Amino acid sequence: MNSLTNQQHRVLSGMRPTGALHLGHYHGVLKNWLKLQHEYECFFFVADWHALTTHYDDVSIMEASVWDMVIDWLAVGVNPGSASLFIQSRVPEHAELHLLLSMMTPLGWLERVPSYKDQQEKLKEKDLATYGFLGYPLLQSADILIYRAGLVPVGEDQVAHVEMTREVARRFNHLYGREPGFEEKVEAAIKKIGKKNAKLYKELRKRYTEQGDAEALQTAKALLDGQQNITLSDKERLFGYLEGSGRIILTEPEALLTPASKMPGLDGQKMSKSYQNTISLREDPQAVEQKLRTMPTDPARVRRTDPGEPEKCPVWQLHQVYSNEETQEWVQQGCRSAGIGCIDCKGPVIDAVQAELAPIRERAKQYEENRGLVRNIINEGSERARDVARQTMVEVRQAMGLEYR
Ligand code: TRP
Ligand code: SF4
Repeated sequence: MNSLTNQQHRVLSGMRPTGALHLGHYHGVLKNWLKLQHEYECFFFVADWHALTTHYDDVSIMEASVWDMVIDWLAVGVNPGSASLFIQSRVPEHAELHLLLSMMTPLGWLERVPSYKDQQEKLKEKDLATYGFLGYPLLQSADILIYRAGLVPVGEDQVAHVEMTREVARRFNHLYGREPGFEEKVEAAIKKIGKKNAKLYKELRKRYTEQGDAEALQTAKALLDGQQNITLSDKERLFGYLEGSGRIILTEPEALLTPASKMPGLDGQKMSKSYQNTISLREDPQAVEQKLRTMPTDPARVRRTDPGEPEKCPVWQLHQVYSNEETQEWVQQGCRSAGIGCIDCKGPVIDAVQAELAPIRERAKQYEENRGLVRNIINEGSERARDVARQTMVEVRQAMGLEYR
């Protein structure tokens, strides 16, 4: 596998630390990560700077939220042996790349990202007319591009950000690198300068790139300058090739759309903290039981003897996530015939959720009691991430004429 295909198989994703993760995260994002970590080289990170774009006025819970999130990841089985786990702010190179990209990113690209206006509308109580908030998607681009990740698992709402990232990469490469198929185009251009010149050009290039022969470079440049029958772009390609600068520096990533979580909240809407309909991954068993017992059912079943309709009941949605065919059949029959009561019906769901959460809770507890281990995992992950990020930045600085240290 060469390094390019290697990069296409690199996965990167981040999550803002917004408090305890819940079953919606588990059945949506996290289970997907668990699968990906066996298939690709994965980098997963806590996007603490991204959290600041909307929560800059309340940083008191940041630290706790960051560690809680890492513990939740570990508790569900994200494996630090297969995936590098890190914290965004521990890799300051993200900020440097963000800054450099900001120089060449048209304002309009940021203003027309749908989430910009949407979130400002949605979070009206906050002042989001800030520089940082406008830059949110570009910071995300830096997160992605710095690892030259090929695949970015995200939800529907983030696809526009990955799209913009592709445009940013393209623009960067256009300005500071060369187009795809560069090598082939160079070959074609070389053919156009005639056999003798082509041979000379190649020899001079070799002397320059392999032995650092500056005189050879000058001679080659003069040779190219004198060419009348090639286009300006071909000439630029040959200049670029001569100096070894013509290549794709930042890879265009692809969004890997996370299938929408089928996990409904306690009220049948999507499970989300803002709807207060969640069961968190570390919820204690009594609370789990209580929440499920009191969750609403088909409102038509006022009395035990009233038949119901599963399609109108959020509990049925949970059966679709947790129950086998036999149990589902039992629900359908029993509900429509008033053969079972709603408390009976909830029984298997309660058991299934408890069984799912018990090992997660247990593992979380071990990590809670061993914070040093969690810190080590993050230290190691951040170092691995930083190695990659540093390398990319060397090339980025070089491409932008900034490598004079
Ligand atoms: N914006 C993402 C979200 O809100 C989080 C995020 C930040 C991210 N940087 C990223 C996701 C890079 C994928 C890749 O969910
Ligand atoms: Fe919902 Fe089950 Fe009650 Fe029917 S029996 S209304 S499916 S909880």
